[in-house]
Amino acid sequence: MLASTKIILQKAHKYNYAVPHFNINNMEIVQGVVQAGVNLKSPLILATSEGAIKYGGMNFLYELVKTSSELANIPIALHLDHGRDVDIIKKAIRLGYSSVMFDGSHLAYKENLRITKQLANLAHKKGISLEAELGTIGGAEDLVSAKKIIYTNPEEAKDFVERTGCDFFAVAIGTSHGAFKFKGKAHLRHDILREIKRVTKIPLVLHGASGVPEKMVKEAEKYGAKLTGVYGVPNSQIKLAIKNGINKINTDTDLRLAFDAGVRKFLAQKPQDFDPRHILGPAREEIRKVAEERITLFGSIKKA
Ligand code: G3H
Ligand code: 13P
Ligand code: ZN
Repeated sequence: MLASTKIILQKAHKYNYAVPHFNINNMEIVQGVVQAGVNLKSPLILATSEGAIKYGGMNFLYELVKTSSELANIPIALHLDHGRDVDIIKKAIRLGYSSVMFDGSHLAYKENLRITKQLANLAHKKGISLEAELGTIGGAEDLVSAKKIIYTNPEEAKDFVERTGCDFFAVAIGTSHGAFKFKGKAHLRHDILREIKRVTKIPLVLHGASGVPEKMVKEAEKYGAKLTGVYGVPNSQIKLAIKNGINKINTDTDLRLAFDAGVRKFLAQKPQDFDPRHILGPAREEIRKVAEERITLFGSIKKA
């Protein structure tokens, strides 16, 4: 059975650590992150974006994660990431996702509040929890994009959380999606984060949190990737963000880079081998390794 995102995050909120949210798109990514969770006895939140659903199909990805949660002896929740299409959100609720995110960050405050509240009520009726976002997390992915970062206003956050009844809350404090997060030094608004935690007192979510580790970038570049200018959130900033109240940390880019490095290396070293299992097996292993590093950093080790 899928685990409850709300229960997983309430425990993290109470004991001050963060649970990994890993974006998944295919079987190898699911197996890689789940193996990491099993090895380190960590709860996991696996998440499908609208782009992942477009690629893999909601029912198919749902069954993959449900089966994994039945085979693995750790709590695994399934979450809808950056839901903007209300029909997709309603479908995920009906299907039995553990939680959904309504991303109304592109809407005016009142409209974001109105729809978030409506969807929170709907989700709660089915025993499902809801993540909301206020402010704008920058960066661009397939279907998730915003040109610039607008920091979350703590006063608005308090009002928004109280009036919508959302279960966890995504903050915009300077991170952005993708591999190009900062020009120069990484700067996160920990002052804003601390204030939001103080006034909302609920589990908080950090999007755009990938570390873009240099050794992985170098490895991918060695085998042909072009990644000039990539820069992620340093581990020290992640640790501080957890101390200041972050309980769910979203990672997609680091998984993509690990997968890419694994595939490139194999193809470069074994040009005669065209067996997909040989090509994707090492990529799955790279996913496991980076997921274990994230779990260790977040402090969710042995919290299953
Ligand atoms: O937050 C965004 C995730 O990285 C999902 O990206 O829309 O390309 O699947 P995607
Ligand atoms: P990254 O692009 O930093 O991995 O962020 C992913 C994310 O926020 C998914 O919601
Ligand atoms: Zn995100």
